[in-house]
Parts: sequence; structure tokens; C-alpha cells
Amino acid sequence: MNFHGQVALITGGTSGIGRATAHVFAREGAKVVIAARNAERGEQVASEIRKLGGESFFLATDVSKSNDVEALVRKTVGRFGRLDCAVNNAAAYTGAFLLTADFTEEEFDHTLAVDLKGVWLGMKFQIHQMLAQNPPGGAIVNTSSVNGLGGAPMGALYSAAKAGILGLSKSAALEYGTRGIRINALAAGAFDTPMLNNVFDRSTGGDPDARKKAEEGFKAMVALGRIGDPREAGEVIAWLCSDAASYVTGHTMIADGGLSARFR
Ligand SMILES: NC(=O)c1ccc[n+]([C@@H]2O[C@H](COP(=O)([O-])OP(=O)(O)OC[C@H]3O[C@@H](n4cnc5c(N)ncnc54)[C@H](OP(=O)(O)O)[C@@H]3O)[C@@H](O)[C@H]2O)c1
Repeated sequence: MNFHGQVALITGGTSGIGRATAHVFAREGAKVVIAARNAERGEQVASEIRKLGGESFFLATDVSKSNDVEALVRKTVGRFGRLDCAVNNAAAYTGAFLLTADFTEEEFDHTLAVDLKGVWLGMKFQIHQMLAQNPPGGAIVNTSSVNGLGGAPMGALYSAAKAGILGLSKSAALEYGTRGIRINALAAGAFDTPMLNNVFDRSTGGDPDARKKAEEGFKAMVALGRIGDPREAGEVIAWLCSDAASYVTGHTMIADGGLSARFR
């Protein structure tokens, strides 16, 4: 991968998979813009990248707010001149831990606003920029989940949003391919991030023994026998954005250590 001279924008770039992805892009020479809500964590990741010799800055953004996302793309281009790679990765895990019929309407609206509308808003402003710039074009990766490939008991709203991302990504890939924009999705399995750790904690009621048992039980279902390192997701995302993937678009790349292999 070689991103020298290119500009990459990563939402949810302050933690977990997004942070690891930001580091991979920077390692491969990209200028990296990090977006999320918490400024302290954002400044920290940008400064980590700068200390390693990269170029990076953080922009406080709520991906569910149109004005924020429009400003994010505008300020990225204001600072770095263009936008080559965009990763719509931010998400909340609010649409889980309840049976389908027990969610409130507010929980539905919030989950879909962050996890699905946030991705669409990102693509909306990123695509307009990629079409307008000279030379035009770019690559977008949207972070979905294996929970978007099938059903997720006690996670219906999250699953619905992640399935929606696949439809958005494939539709847009079909629309913009001849205009130089490739759009793919990552169906992520389990990666060791605050989100996943929160899932293990909440689903086992904070009991350390139950948690250990749940984690071991989960690993036993993964062909590689382990939970992924966030960097391993970042490598896949960056590869999908790179020229090495120049004939790949509308694709859902599954990176789950083989978790879903027996059902496919
Ligand atoms: N970890 C896994 O096992 C796994 C599995 C499948 C899919 N995924 C997907 O991978 C992506 C990254 O997840 P992760 O595990 O790395 O989670 P994480 O460590 O909890 O990071 C989530 C990121 O999203 C940001 N974020 C949350 N709400 C936001 C909002 N409204 N506006 C802007 N940014 C927001 C957070 O920062 P702020 O809170 O500061 O905004 C943070 O940077 C998500 O799309 C997730 O659904 C993860």
C-alpha cells in the first residue's frame, strides 16, 4: 500500500478499529483526518501520529449531524486540499441488549441516526467532494459487521443498521464506479476494542468468571481461535482503499477470523 500524497478521513478514528486504521494509513504515508466527538481522545490520536512523523489532525464531529459532517469534509479539504480515502466507521452500540419488541422508539431513532444515517451522511459529502476535485475520484470503506450479514439476537437495531450499510455501499458503488469512486464495506467479526469489551461486560453482568467463560466460548467459534487485533481490521480497510484493490468495488469484505465460515 502506498498512500503518499493522499488524504484519508476516518470517522470514529479515536478508538478501537478507527484508531488502528488511522495508524495504518499514516504508516503508509497518508495525511490523516480523525473525526469523533471526544476531543481529548481525538487530539491524542492525532498527536500519536504526528510523533511518528505523520500528518494528522482531529475534527470534533457527531456523524449523525448533517452540519458536522458537511464541515468535516469541508475542513479536511481546506487543510489538505482533497479527499482520497474515507472510512465511515463511527458507531454506537446502543441498539442491543434488548429483545426486538422491547426497544423504545428513541433507541431505534438514535441507533439508526448514528450507525446508518451517519454512514450515509459521510458518503453524501465525501462523494460530492470526490466528484468535484481535480483529478476526481476516491475510495470509501464503510464499517459494517457480521451482525449485518445475519440476525443478531439481542441486537436487532444494531444488526438492522449494519445490514443497511451493506445496501448503501453496494448501491453507491453501482452509481459512482464509472466516475472513479470505489465503495466497499467491511463486515467485521470480533475485534478487541472498547465496544467489544463493553459487549462482553454487559452480557455477563460484570461477573469476571462468566465473562471469561463467554470470551472462551466465543473464541471456540472462531476458526483462528482468537479475537482480532484492531490493526488487522485497519489493514483490510486500508487495502480496500489502496490501488492494490483497484478492481474491487461493491464488495463486502468479511474479516472475522473465520467465525461465519460454517454458515456461508
Ligand atoms: N469491535 C468489534 O468487535 C466490532 C465488530 C463488528 C463491527 N464493529 C464496528 O467497527 C466500528 C468501530 O467499532 P470499535 O469496536 O472500534 O468501537 P469503539 O472502540 O467503541 O469506537 C467507536 C468510535 O466511534 C466514535 N463515535 C461513536 N458515536 C459517534 C458519533 N455520534 N459521532 C462521531 N463519532 C462517534 C467514538 O468516539 P466518540 O465517542 O468520541 O464520538 C469512537 O471513536 C463500528 O462501526 C462497529 O460497529 C466492531
